[in-house]
Amino acid sequence: MHSTTRRMLVFVGISTIVGVALLLAAYRFTIGPRGAVAAFPSLAQAVSTLSPDASSQCVRCHQDKGPGIVQQYYDSKHAGRGVQCLDCHAPVSGQQALTEQHYQVAIVASPTPNNCIRCHKDEVNQFAESRHSARAWFAVNGSQGFSQDDLKKYHLLDSAGKPLNSGKPNAVANLIGPDASAASCQVCHGIGRKNADGSFGDCTKCHLRHSFSVAQSRQPETCAQCHLGPDHPQSEIYNESAHGAYYLANKDKFNLDAPAGTLTVKDFPAPTCATCHMSAFGSVKGTHDVGQRLKWNLAPAIATVRPEGEQGRQNMTDVCLNCHTQDFINKQMNGAEKVIALTNDTVNKGQAIVDDLKRLGLLPDTPFGSSIDFTMFELWHHEGRRARFGAVMGGADYVNWHGIYEQKKTLIELQADAAELKRNH
Ligand code: HEC
Ligand code: HEC
Ligand code: HEC
Ligand code: HEC
Ligand code: HEC
Ligand code: HEC
Ligand code: HEC
Ligand code: HEC
Repeated sequence: MHSTTRRMLVFVGISTIVGVALLLAAYRFTIGPRGAVAAFPSLAQAVSTLSPDASSQCVRCHQDKGPGIVQQYYDSKHAGRGVQCLDCHAPVSGQQALTEQHYQVAIVASPTPNNCIRCHKDEVNQFAESRHSARAWFAVNGSQGFSQDDLKKYHLLDSAGKPLNSGKPNAVANLIGPDASAASCQVCHGIGRKNADGSFGDCTKCHLRHSFSVAQSRQPETCAQCHLGPDHPQSEIYNESAHGAYYLANKDKFNLDAPAGTLTVKDFPAPTCATCHMSAFGSVKGTHDVGQRLKWNLAPAIATVRPEGEQGRQNMTDVCLNCHTQDFINKQMNGAEKVIALTNDTVNKGQAIVDDLKRLGLLPDTPFGSSIDFTMFELWHHEGRRARFGAVMGGADYVNWHGIYEQKKTLIELQADAAELKRNH
């Protein structure tokens, strides 16, 4: 072949390769699968267009000092909608105690719900009504640090106007001591932590910062940070339920990022924790008050119906009705109520044994001063609850093997221990 022709062919060949590569790249970064991502500026691009205002200074400097924060912020809807660092980190009225000078700018290092309320009034107010707020903190620490107004506002007074449970810190928190409590009780119950501006709660327990994403909060893993383990295994129960199995097998088909308020069975063919307890779903209104759809108080030694319990049951049923018939739901709920009654019955029997020993002066006064205290505690706090939670949320294994069966066995042990104590007396 003539050398010029060969050069021509090589040139055409290379041009074609380069051209196709350019087209592919253009596709990939504009209309292709990466298109949506490329529509957002890269971190470097975003930073290079910053104005000289204070929030821009935060980004510029923090991009070096902990780039993770800035990256998560740029991944959030907040960044896309122009919400800036200081929209959350600038002190609002009442936050003197939280304010510090930071490179010549007054900031709040730990924003509270008071820094969100300007833009998210409903969520903040509903959250405050829920037991995720002050009640969660009170449950561990008692009324210490609570004003009388707080106690009233957050429904922490009994019918005689006294703090619930005499306002005492929890006996197990005392048992394990302050260092262990700080690294356990107070981490989970920190969802309702007391803030220095008088507010309660930490939105970032579910909306992990700084992405503050709704998609992440709808996934069961978010709730499973706290709702797991021997005394409240809601996460394990969900994973073994038909709903959990469906979700885990089909997660990629769920439209997790659908804007709140528009969610339907098309986005979520099976429910997650959030769907049943919080989300706006179909025609059901959403709520940040996780008590609004509950009938029972399942956590105490004896489960009781809540004052607004029937309405709560209706609210939950309205969620189920998106996917099941009324008869099917009734059957499930009625079956669960029979299990709740069984757990209450066993706890009552155990309590009668313990009360008898106390009457005879055979048990020490200090809480958890005898092995019988532990046995009785586990009879309701672990085994009774597990059976109840299993029954209401479809976890058959928890109803029996971690629940009713264990309760039967523990009651026999309690009887034997009590008989021995009386014999040795
Ligand atoms: C010149 C660099 C620089 C600038 C500008 C800057 N920061 Fe910081 N920031 C830091 C460094 C370094 C730390 C960690 C050490 C420290 O606490 O000083 C920090 C810590 C923080 C903390 C945690 C403080 C604490 O007490 O735990 C917050 C919140 C924070 N910055 C927010 C902001 C906000 C909001 C802005 C913008 C108004 C901002 N920063 C501007 C460098 C900067
Ligand atoms: C939507 C509100 C919001 C925005 C916007 C926001 N933050 Fe935060 N930031 C928070 C909250 C809430 C916390 C957690 C406070 C806590 O739990 O104590 C926090 C914590 C921090 C911390 C300390 C904790 C840590 O993880 O080290 C730093 C530093 C920080 N933010 C910097 C920034 C910077 C820089 C920006 C802007 C790029 C920014 N924040 C934007 C709400 C926000
Ligand atoms: C200055 C107003 C403003 C402040 C302050 C603010 N936000 Fe937002 N937030 C917005 C806007 C705007 C959106 C986007 C709404 C949309 O696109 O539908 C949003 C969306 C959200 C979302 C939904 C994100 C998603 O993936 O759909 C969450 C969660 C959220 N904010 C939490 C918080 C929390 C927690 C705080 C306080 C620490 C806070 N926000 C403070 C304005 C604000
Ligand atoms: C950081 C820990 C934490 C996370 C995360 C968390 N919870 Fe909770 N939740 C608690 C604590 C603590 C309580 C008990 C508060 C009390 O009654 O004192 C609770 C109670 C509840 C209750 C019972 C409320 C009542 O009125 O009795 C429901 C329902 C609930 N959570 C659902 C959820 C769902 C759904 C999620 C996830 C979207 C979630 N929680 C995430 C800690 C958490
Ligand atoms: C892994 C997270 C986690 C830890 C650690 C934890 N809790 Fe809880 N706690 C919860 C959740 C979740 C609930 C809600 C259970 C439910 O409603 O089903 C709860 C419920 C409670 C309740 C009943 C709430 C009420 O208002 O009636 C008390 C009391 C309590 N916890 C005390 C403690 C104490 C004390 C400790 C430490 C010794 C502790 N918890 C450790 C997550 C936790
Ligand atoms: C127990 C976990 C949990 C806590 C705590 C929590 N959220 Fe949410 N949040 C969710 C879930 C789940 C959704 C999605 C609801 C849905 O699917 O309709 C959501 C949605 C939102 C949205 C989007 C609503 C919309 O209409 O776009 C905002 C804003 C928000 N939360 C703000 C907050 C604020 C502010 C706080 C603190 C006061 C907070 N959240 C505390 C779980 C939580
Ligand atoms: C199919 C809907 C559904 C799903 C999914 C679901 N729950 Fe539930 N949950 C219920 C029902 C129904 C009850 C009992 C309501 C009542 O009181 O009658 C309940 C009770 C609870 C309680 C007990 C509150 C108390 O009285 O102590 C907690 C806590 C809870 N769920 C958390 C979760 C968590 C966390 C997840 C996810 C791991 C989850 N739920 C998944 C329907 C659901
Ligand atoms: C978003 C749709 C959806 C919602 C809401 C929903 N479920 Fe389901 N449910 C499913 C799917 C999907 C399955 C698995 C397929 C099947 O067994 O029907 C299922 C299965 C079940 C099963 C097991 C059926 C079996 O034969 O093993 C029970 C029980 C159940 N759901 C009860 C409820 C209750 C009670 C509620 C409300 C508290 C509820 N579901 C809410 C979609 C839903």
